Amino acid sequence: MADRSRHLIGLLLGAEEDWPQAFEAILRRIGPLTDASGQTHEITAERLTIEPFELTDPVRSDLVIDRLAYWYYHPREWLKKAALMNGTYLLNSPFTFQSMEKHSAYCAMVRLGLKIPRTVLVPYKNPVDNTRWAYTSAKYNRSFDIDTIAADLGYPLYMKPFDGGGWRGVSRIDTQADLHKAYDESGEMLMHLQATVDYEKFARALSIGPETMVMDFRPEEPMHNRYTVSHDFLSAKAGEECASISRIINAFFGWEFNSAEMLVTGDEVYPIDYANACPDVAMTSLHYYFPWAITALVRWSVYCLVTGRRTSIDLHTDRYFAIADDVALSYDAKITAYTALANEHFETDRYWQWCEENLPHLPEQVHDWVTSADFDRLLRETVDATYPAPERATFMAHFHGLLGMWAEDNAPA
Ligand SMILES: Nc1ncnc2c1ncn2[C@@H]1O[C@H](COP(=O)(O)OP(=O)(O)OP(=O)(O)O)[C@@H](O)[C@H]1O
Ligand SMILES: [Mg+2]
Repeated sequence: MADRSRHLIGLLLGAEEDWPQAFEAILRRIGPLTDASGQTHEITAERLTIEPFELTDPVRSDLVIDRLAYWYYHPREWLKKAALMNGTYLLNSPFTFQSMEKHSAYCAMVRLGLKIPRTVLVPYKNPVDNTRWAYTSAKYNRSFDIDTIAADLGYPLYMKPFDGGGWRGVSRIDTQADLHKAYDESGEMLMHLQATVDYEKFARALSIGPETMVMDFRPEEPMHNRYTVSHDFLSAKAGEECASISRIINAFFGWEFNSAEMLVTGDEVYPIDYANACPDVAMTSLHYYFPWAITALVRWSVYCLVTGRRTSIDLHTDRYFAIADDVALSYDAKITAYTALANEHFETDRYWQWCEENLPHLPEQVHDWVTSADFDRLLRETVDATYPAPERATFMAHFHGLLGMWAEDNAPA
C-alpha cells in the first residue's frame, strides 16, 4: 500500500507563472504536518504535462488545481477519468462546469429565489450550419419579435452569451438600433437579454472552498485597477449576503474555486455572473488580495488532502429546493438556511478548527514570503511579462504600494 502520508498536488496550468510559483513557495514553507493521530503528512506540488493516457492508467496526483479544462478537451477528459476512476480531488470538476454554465446557474438561482434580473433566452440569429436544422427550423421555429421582448424588459438592457466568458459578446443595449445591431452581430452565439440592474456597488467575490473574499470591483477600469482596496464598501448585511450567496452557489454546483459578480444597491444583492471555471487570480489584478488568495488555495488544498475529503460529482439540489419551496420562510431566512447547507458541504466549522490546530504558522509564513526578496523577484518577473518596458517602473511602484499595505495590515501580532 502506498505511503498514505504523502500527498501530491497536480497543477494543470496555462500561461500563468505568478500564482503557481507563489503556491509552490508557500507549500514548501509550511513543511510536513503532523495530525492529531500522530501521522505525518508531506504535501508537494507538481506541474502536470499533457500526454496520451490509457483510461486505466494510475493517477499520481491526489488533488488537481485545474486551469485548462474549460478550454481544452484533452486535459478535461483526463480530469474526468481521474475523478471517475481514481478518486482525484478536483478544483474544479469539469463535470460541474461543463453542464452548469452561466445559464444553468441563472436558472438554479432563480429557483432558489435569489434576485436574478429578468432574463430571456432568444434563438440563434444565424441558423446553425446543418441541413437537417434547416428543415426543423422552417417547420418548427416560431417567429418572434425581439423588439417586443426588449420593450418588455425595458431599456437599457444587456445582451450576452448564455454561457458567459470574459466579456465576449456582451453589449449594453440603449436603443432599438443597438438591439438589432447586437443581435445581427451575435451570429451563431446563443444570447440572453437581461434587464439592467441600477447598482451602487459592484462586488466581485472570489471563493476557494469555504473561504470567500468580497471585493470592491470597478469593471470599467483597466485590469490592474479593477479591485479597489476598501473594506467597508458594502453595508454589513449586503457584505454578508454577498459572501453567503457565493458560498451557496458554489456548494450547490460543487464548485470549489470560483468568482461571483453581484450588483449591490443598499442592502439588495443581485447576482449576475457566477460561473467562472478558471477565475482570475493574477498577481497584477488581485494585488492586495493576492496573498489571501494563495493562502486560501494552499489552506483548502492541504485541508482536503490531509483530512481525506472526497470530491463529489453528485449534486443535492433537492435539499435546496425544499427550502426554496417553504412558503413560511422569508428571503433572509432562506439565505440563512441555504448558507447552513453550504457550510455543511464545505465543512466550514471543521475547516477553520482544523486550520487553527494544524496550520497556525501559515499566515506568518505567507507574510514572511510576501515581504521577501523571492516575492519581489516574482513580482518583477510578472510585471516584466505583463507590461511594456516604459511602464514597468510605474507598475512596480503601484504593486509595491498595494502589497506593502497588505503587509502592514496583516503583520503578525
Ligand atoms: N444585468 C446587468 N445589469 C447591469 N450591468 C450588467 C448586467 N449584466 C452585465 N452587466 C455588465 O456587463 C459586464 C459583463 O457581463 P457578465 O459579467 O454577465 O459577462 P461576462 O462575459 O462573464 O463578463 P466577465 O467575464 O468580464 O465577467 C458586467 O461586469 C457588468 O458590468
Ligand atoms: Mg462577468
